[in-house]
Amino acid sequence: MRRAIGIAVLGAGTVGTEVLRLLAEQGDELAARVGAPLELRGVAVRRPDRVRDLPVDPALFTKDAAALVIRPDVDVVVELVGGVELTRGWLLSALAAGKSVVTANKALLAEAAAALQDAAAGSGAHLYYEASVGAAIPLLRPLRESLAGDRVHRVLGIVNGTTNYILSRMDATGASFDDALEEATALGYAEADPTGDVEGFDAAYKAAILASLAFHTTVTGDQVHREGITEVTAADIASARATGATIKLLCVCERGEEGISVRVHPAMVPRAHPLAGVGDAFNAVFVEAESAGSLMFYGRGAGGAPTASAVLGDLVTVARAVAEGRPGTAESRHAELPVLPMADTITRYHVSLDVADRPGVLAAVAAAFSQRDVSIRTVRQEGLGGDASLVLVTHAARDGDLAATVEDLRHLDAVRSVRSVLRVEGGEL
Ligand code: NDP
Ligand code: HSE
Repeated sequence: MRRAIGIAVLGAGTVGTEVLRLLAEQGDELAARVGAPLELRGVAVRRPDRVRDLPVDPALFTKDAAALVIRPDVDVVVELVGGVELTRGWLLSALAAGKSVVTANKALLAEAAAALQDAAAGSGAHLYYEASVGAAIPLLRPLRESLAGDRVHRVLGIVNGTTNYILSRMDATGASFDDALEEATALGYAEADPTGDVEGFDAAYKAAILASLAFHTTVTGDQVHREGITEVTAADIASARATGATIKLLCVCERGEEGISVRVHPAMVPRAHPLAGVGDAFNAVFVEAESAGSLMFYGRGAGGAPTASAVLGDLVTVARAVAEGRPGTAESRHAELPVLPMADTITRYHVSLDVADRPGVLAAVAAAFSQRDVSIRTVRQEGLGGDASLVLVTHAARDGDLAATVEDLRHLDAVRSVRSVLRVEGGEL
């Protein structure tokens, strides 16, 4: 056994509690894997005097995270607080002082990954963040290491457990949005402020992290096109059902001729596609690479225990390296590909309209598409007395042209209402 590795844990909430419990319960086994004991030096929380049902000496709790992270007896800082402002300062000062960092904080990485990586490279410290995307699913290490010799073309997946839980419940049981969100929060899937989940911010942070690793490019959260699920209506769910599809909040990172597209939005996915069967708070991500072909990663994407699994995996890796005196390795950002605006991204739309059922209406609707150079793939019409329901699925086109077509349709006399507009991913409807 080598000298003990000193650990500072920041945060003892949903994830931190599980990490601290496993560190205490499995300490001997973890020490054997690392080749050195892991010793907890302190736990920073907002309310250090709160009584907690944890196998941790109460004297180790502190409010002063800034002092804890640079203590001389701390080797590795495990950050499980979340948010950007405070954590950025703590982790930059820890890395500058040569402390290695393990974090699950996707918001911070989506904003400041480059600064954190530079600080780690400057001091030779390690920076690991597997838990930040897909919780328990080993996904970042395969992108960063296993696929480092390949060329990734596309990453497509479900990366937010809360919204997948909500959409799955709405689809399968007809649960209301609010009831499903309440359940997801009680199960520990949602962020402290669930707006981050339902408005797509959480998934956008993860998309930025995935795209950065997949394309060796710095992508920040604010460069990701983001739409959440708050606008998904019962009519959208019904439209998807009628078309043999389901609605999922997708993260799509694609490499094209002109640059990369990184986006998060709800989309119709044909029920035959494996992503359509991903229910509950599970996550699933497809990676398409030039030589490897298609790879699928699937597992629990949220919750205390699954996230703790990834955190401890990183901790063992980092502690081994620290025990053996190995410095961290820099991440590659050599490509720095441009991030395309959403309007220039190529997508497909599914549009449901309520129209007047009279001569010339279909021709007027078709003309609106052709004027924007959008080709229609299928049309389905159903009479409803004096009105008709019209469902159109397009071929692939510029997203800007598709969106402009929908705006034109809203102003057509014959169109009573645009009932549902959704992008289509994962195959033909
Ligand atoms: P929680 O809100 O459950 O816990 C946050 C913890 O941080 C609490 O222990 C809180 O202290 C502590 N804290 C808050 N402010 C401060 C402060 N100023 N100084 C010191 N400590 C502070 O968060 P989660 O455990 O859910 O999430 C933690 C991180 O993990 C986030 O980055 C999140 O995005 C990420 N993550 C979460 C997943 C999940 O399923 N929950 C999955 C994957 C990643 P106190 O206990 O006193 O309130
Ligand atoms: N709130 C996140 C989710 C936690 O629901 O996916 C996992 O990152």
